[in-house]
Amino acid sequence: MAKYANKVAVVTGAASGIGRSLAQELARRGARVVVADINGEGAAAVAREIEAAGGKASWVRLDVTDESEVAGLIHKTVADHGRIDFLFNNAGIGVGGEARDLTLAQWRRIVDVNLWGVIYGCHAAYPIMIRQGSGHIVNTASVAGLAPLPGEVCYATTKFAVVGLSTALRNEAAGLGVKVSVVCPGFIDTAIFETAEIAGADPKDILERLPRKFFATADQAAREILAGVSRNKDIIIVTLHGKLVVGLYRLSRPLWSAVNRIMMRDYRKIRKSAA
Ligand code: NAI
Repeated sequence: MAKYANKVAVVTGAASGIGRSLAQELARRGARVVVADINGEGAAAVAREIEAAGGKASWVRLDVTDESEVAGLIHKTVADHGRIDFLFNNAGIGVGGEARDLTLAQWRRIVDVNLWGVIYGCHAAYPIMIRQGSGHIVNTASVAGLAPLPGEVCYATTKFAVVGLSTALRNEAAGLGVKVSVVCPGFIDTAIFETAEIAGADPKDILERLPRKFFATADQAAREILAGVSRNKDIIIVTLHGKLVVGLYRLSRPLWSAVNRIMMRDYRKIRKSAA
């Protein structure tokens, strides 16, 4: 609880699903939450729910694909509250299907939301958090960002990129007072399975056949995510099924983070000597 009490947290994509549950859980734990979503009415409704339950929340209509809107939100948050302690870059969309059926418009849309949205958030908040000497950026990727799953070429492209961005940024941020984690959920029962597009197929045919027994609720996911954030985990894999899927992939990489720390130290030495 103390970890979040009176802290300022921005959650993107917070009108629905995992983001909504994160916003609610953060508020229950005492944080002041900024509920941001392209669905302004939905964001307002979530902020009202939080306030009705005794929490502190404000809301804003935000399109994460708009660089200036994202920067504006981060700066307004700091102007209003004096600081930003947590940024959850959670907004995301689903586009599935095989690469041979994807249009470039579909590629662009998913990269704009799932990747550029996260980059804009990091780019705006990271320097402020460095100046504060504290802050935690939590980016949402997916199990599909750690293990290539069928029919997810463009989704995996964005989510692998978010894992790469987050784990690389985490190395840089260590020592500057800023924490970075990446969330990799398995199946979570949210609206994304109603709104996702599937190139070359009727979404219903695919989405209705997913193994529902492996689905967790958004509330369960939010609690698991915040447990990982509290422990400052680097990669927070959510659901047992997700952990199993990723397990095989990760078995081959036990030494990577140690090697990476040594490389980062050497990189900083070179940077200093070049200055
Ligand atoms: P959701 O569809 O319930 O919520 C996503 C929210 O993002 C919606 O409220 C939507 O309006 C908002 N959004 C979409 N485009 C936006 C934009 N341009 N600007 C601002 N907001 C925008 O989906 P869910 O499942 O809660 O997804 C949250 C995150 O979790 C996404 O990044 C998704 O890729 C990721 N994820 C979800 C999984 C699942 O099984 N539900 C599994 C793995 C990752």
